[in-house]
Amino acid sequence: MVEQTQETGAEQGPEPKGAVSRRAVIGWAGAGVALGAAAVGTVAAATRSSDEEAEAALKAVPDIEFYGEHQAGIATPVQDRLHFAAFDVSTTSRDALIRVLKEWTKAAAVMTGGREVGTGATGLAEAPPDDTGEALGLPASRLTLTIGFGPTLFEKDGKDRFGLKAKRPEGLIDLPAFPHDNLDPARSGGDLCVQACADDPQVAVHAIRNLARIGMGVVTVRWSQLGFGKTSSTTPEAQTPRNLMGFKDGTHNVSGQDTPTLDEHIWAAPGDGPEWMTGGSYLVARRIRMHIETWDRTPLKEQEDIFGRTKREGAPFGKQKEHDAPDLSAMPKDSHVRLAHPDSNSGAKLLRRGFSFTDGSDGLGRLEAGLFFLAYQRDTRKAFVPVQRKLAATDALNEYIQHVGSAHFACPPGVRKPGEWWGQSLFG
Ligand code: HEM
Repeated sequence: MVEQTQETGAEQGPEPKGAVSRRAVIGWAGAGVALGAAAVGTVAAATRSSDEEAEAALKAVPDIEFYGEHQAGIATPVQDRLHFAAFDVSTTSRDALIRVLKEWTKAAAVMTGGREVGTGATGLAEAPPDDTGEALGLPASRLTLTIGFGPTLFEKDGKDRFGLKAKRPEGLIDLPAFPHDNLDPARSGGDLCVQACADDPQVAVHAIRNLARIGMGVVTVRWSQLGFGKTSSTTPEAQTPRNLMGFKDGTHNVSGQDTPTLDEHIWAAPGDGPEWMTGGSYLVARRIRMHIETWDRTPLKEQEDIFGRTKREGAPFGKQKEHDAPDLSAMPKDSHVRLAHPDSNSGAKLLRRGFSFTDGSDGLGRLEAGLFFLAYQRDTRKAFVPVQRKLAATDALNEYIQHVGSAHFACPPGVRKPGEWWGQSLFG
């Protein structure tokens, strides 16, 4: 079963030839559990019923449609886990790059449907399997794969590498330097990116790994980031998640169901820039390290003053409930929410889709943790840039965070039907 979360109008296309369902495996895996539990009945009966139970459980969590007017993974409901990868293109061949993008699209359609790549994880004994196999037995887990093109794909060191220079959107700027930035080039930039989101980390990792394998010799992973515990929501009715500072994050975000706001603030519209981006969106990724240990020694009142919202309920200052309309004047002038709110930024809105990360600890025994901030918008120059300028200048939160990685990507519109491919509107 397939969820139509975007207004795609597109039906799920036929499965690419040779795609093997991982679900067949799950039925038998689930059978083992049922066999242990069922002391009565025949083995055959137990196996049959567990197959049915496994199938029913899987049907309860619909896949997220890959095909559509817009790419999934932007306005669709946010999953629990992230594997984000930025790639550099290592070839000078435009044809080789197009070949990989076509293969990636096929693989993405297959994996987001919970199926095995190519001839599967156990194809020919004499050849390396097409699918790396670690997702065998796992459902699609609402996997979405979202591609973006970085500024360096269009031009690098003055070179028009793939004949795309004239197609670079003006809006795909090199992000300006902001005060307090401490960016690591090894965790910044990238010619391409793929955002993999799923409810199961193994499914997200499997997806990126298989794309990297397919792209071998043409693209290399420049940097990647694992994320857990989404820090935003595009479904207002769902419980708002908390970030690693313990605050509800994503309360006042753009809803994935709010079509007028999505059209006005998130999707590139005709006339905004090059035609190939119509229906797409610009993504800013920022790896933001939190000084967790300092934060943990900060009094509650100060923590709440920093955001302008209460910790337990998430209510804006002067109000009772999380979703009460905020009164910005009741919040400290340097509070995060007051500064970031659209009313303080000429109405600018971002669709935030970030995740927490903890990459172990640094050599000084401090947690290497923070927020992997992801935000989509129609025009970065009118949304992330002015908001971040304001935050970087006076946000009280700055004492506890540092931006250590940064990237900007143009995410094209969705692949509308089987046979189309990621980047077709750009390269076509
Ligand atoms: C580690 C860094 C950050 C943390 C911990 C953080 C945390 C929060 C929290 C707790 C809220 C209030 C709940 C909500 O409405 O979501 C919030 C709101 C918001 N944040 Fe952040 N944030 C961070 C970075 C950023 C950055 C870099 C931007 C954009 C440049 C940003 C933009 C916003 C916006 C637009 C809102 C909604 C304000 C409103 O309309 O009420 N945040 N953030």
